[in-house]
Amino acid sequence: MNRVDLNWDDNEVLPDRLRPDVEFLFGRMSRATVEMVDPHPGERILDIGCGRAIDIVNMSGSGADLIGIEPSFVMLSHARETLKLNGYNTAVLQAIGESIPVAPGSVDKVVCKGALDHFADPDRALKQMAAAIKPGGRAVIAIANFESLGFKIGKIIFGCRKLLGIKNPYKRLPWELPPDHTIKFDYRNLVGMANRHMKVDKITGVSMLCCTPGWGDMLDTLPAGLTRFIVKSLDGLSRIFPMLSDVIVIRCVPR
Ligand SMILES: C[S@@+](CC[C@H](N)C(=O)[O-])C[C@H]1O[C@@H](n2cnc3c(N)ncnc32)[C@H](O)[C@@H]1O
Repeated sequence: MNRVDLNWDDNEVLPDRLRPDVEFLFGRMSRATVEMVDPHPGERILDIGCGRAIDIVNMSGSGADLIGIEPSFVMLSHARETLKLNGYNTAVLQAIGESIPVAPGSVDKVVCKGALDHFADPDRALKQMAAAIKPGGRAVIAIANFESLGFKIGKIIFGCRKLLGIKNPYKRLPWELPPDHTIKFDYRNLVGMANRHMKVDKITGVSMLCCTPGWGDMLDTLPAGLTRFIVKSLDGLSRIFPMLSDVIVIRCVPR
């Protein structure tokens, strides 16, 4: 098993300024995830790999009993700061998804957003999620799709550029595995892995073409209203064709 990076810090991976496509993606990814979790008062909900606890804050108004788990000391400290700033007293614990510190069948819902592809053993984490949820509960997982339409187009463009002898200006292309990831998820392997431990009963997509080389720069040159119209229209398409979307969100129920 790979070692867990206890000092992982999103400040080291996020750009200083988000392009409009990325900004839209982050917002929609959170909203789509929370919508699928559908938190209710009194429910015990676990956010696995909670990072800065953004989604805990997003769900806090629901009256659910929220708990975050996160291995990185740095992210735990960001999370506590976020919660304090927002006036919440939610528990965030240091733990990993492969060994969830709750009794079997003791939580109503688990959520894991943008994190499973950082885990040393995602399959084991899914097994743990299945064990943690009560009958009638659900797990919601949101993850980047490495077979998105944007990445497919990017691969073709960069393949042609290579044939023409044009030098690649990027250190790492967006469809190559980032150093802090352990696996490239796509529709097939995400649904396949989740179905081994639970039953995937709902799937949606979030955003399309985000991070295709040059796309964010092009959107940046357009009037804000037009950019918003384009990213929202593509997002509508992603819901119909989640296999091609930038992020896939799945809801799983126990078997
Ligand atoms: C990209 S961040 C996503 C954070 C948060 N869920 C969000 O959407 O803002 C991925 C997080 O997964 C955490 N992580 C890495 N390995 C983990 C593991 N084995 N179990 C739980 N969390 C893990 C990282 O420390 C990091 O905070």
